[in-house]
Amino acid sequence: MRQKLLSAGSKELSYEIREIVKKAKILQNEGVEIFWENIGDPIQKNAKIPDWIKAIVTELTQNEKTYGYCDSKGELATREFLANRNNALNGAQITPDDILFFNGLGDAIATLYHYLTPTTRVIGPSPAYSTHSSAEAAHANHHPLTYRLDPENHWYPDMVDLRNQVKYNPNIVAILLINPDNPTGMVYPKKILEEIVELAKEYDLFLISDEIYNKITYNGARAYALSEVIGDVPGIAMKGISKELPWPGSRCGWIECYNREADPEFNRLCRVLDDAKMIEVCSTTLPQMAIPKILGDPRYEQYRADLNEKIGWRSRFISQTLQQIPELTFNPTYGAFYNTIVFKEGTLNFEQTLPIENPEVETKVREWVDGVSLDFRFVYYLLGATGICVVPISSFCSDLRGFRVTLLEEDEELLKQTFTTLRDAIRTYLDS
Ligand SMILES: Cc1ncc(COP(=O)(O)O)c(C=O)c1O
Repeated sequence: MRQKLLSAGSKELSYEIREIVKKAKILQNEGVEIFWENIGDPIQKNAKIPDWIKAIVTELTQNEKTYGYCDSKGELATREFLANRNNALNGAQITPDDILFFNGLGDAIATLYHYLTPTTRVIGPSPAYSTHSSAEAAHANHHPLTYRLDPENHWYPDMVDLRNQVKYNPNIVAILLINPDNPTGMVYPKKILEEIVELAKEYDLFLISDEIYNKITYNGARAYALSEVIGDVPGIAMKGISKELPWPGSRCGWIECYNREADPEFNRLCRVLDDAKMIEVCSTTLPQMAIPKILGDPRYEQYRADLNEKIGWRSRFISQTLQQIPELTFNPTYGAFYNTIVFKEGTLNFEQTLPIENPEVETKVREWVDGVSLDFRFVYYLLGATGICVVPISSFCSDLRGFRVTLLEEDEELLKQTFTTLRDAIRTYLDS
């Protein structure tokens, strides 16, 4: 008889952020207008790329080199540019050899966990961003291993929980942070980063910091890079242009390895990642060649600052709109472009509903809510009644009941309308 085809870990692969789209598309076919608050793609939310960036990319398309393979590790001039950018922070110093390009950070994440021994674990934050938690769990053939971000304390990590898990689980080899965080919009304070570095040092762990949102902060916040606080602990920062530029379709991201020489085993891991990319040949060439030209352009800083200002305004508007609902635990965001909003314990039940005018839509929603958890129930009713598509938070490896929204709507009036409708729907649902 044939062997089993799939590993035990394969069932850990789930991505509710896109799963909910299938349900929304079904309702769209029934005539419901959908407001896509589920996915972090600024382009899908009508972000416009400025002409000067388009001109750089257009000019690159005239260069034959952009059609070819590049170095396995990535375009050397770009790695030099990025190494200098990191080194200017005056923290852990790197050379271009410490940088490795991938086809998007999703590719980097999958490759990194894939090559760790299955018995080793990387502990990451919960609510968990599924690209990390699913890939890590699939490698370990086990459920994701998480530390708690505390909604009652600005979503900062529960350091007692993290320390205890590290102390009592010798399989843990690394701590993951996502800074600023997806899905909570929290920015790790410097002091907490320093505590995490100390913890890693004490237990001989390495650190992984997903910094894809590093330049997306607002309302007075700034995100510290891992290299600024890491000292001599080994670590990997994961970076990319999907969100910052934004250019998610470029499929271009990279890792930076800090303090490789300090730890031979960690150094071997970094070399294995290099080798894995070499077998695959290389990552996308054109976006790599665009990076120094765009990120190094004198217009870039102001461009990014203006985008952050707009996200900051949306964050404040959403706070004003939803903060007043006493049944919610609401935290204003300071980075990335998501907010996770939690229903307080005991406020949801299986009787609550929203009025849905279209009988076909109502029938579908009633079918979908059968046997699901309380936050999925709210999310499906919200989708059916208002067309607003958000992601239930229990799908982010969390026991909390709530949902994630994005802060990406470019049309101010539409944003106001969407979040006012959301507020009213929450009130109606809770009172039903
Ligand atoms: C925290 C985080 N890391 C990585 C990624 C994936 O980025 P990329 O488009 O570079 O694969 C995302 C995308 O949403 C993300 O939120």
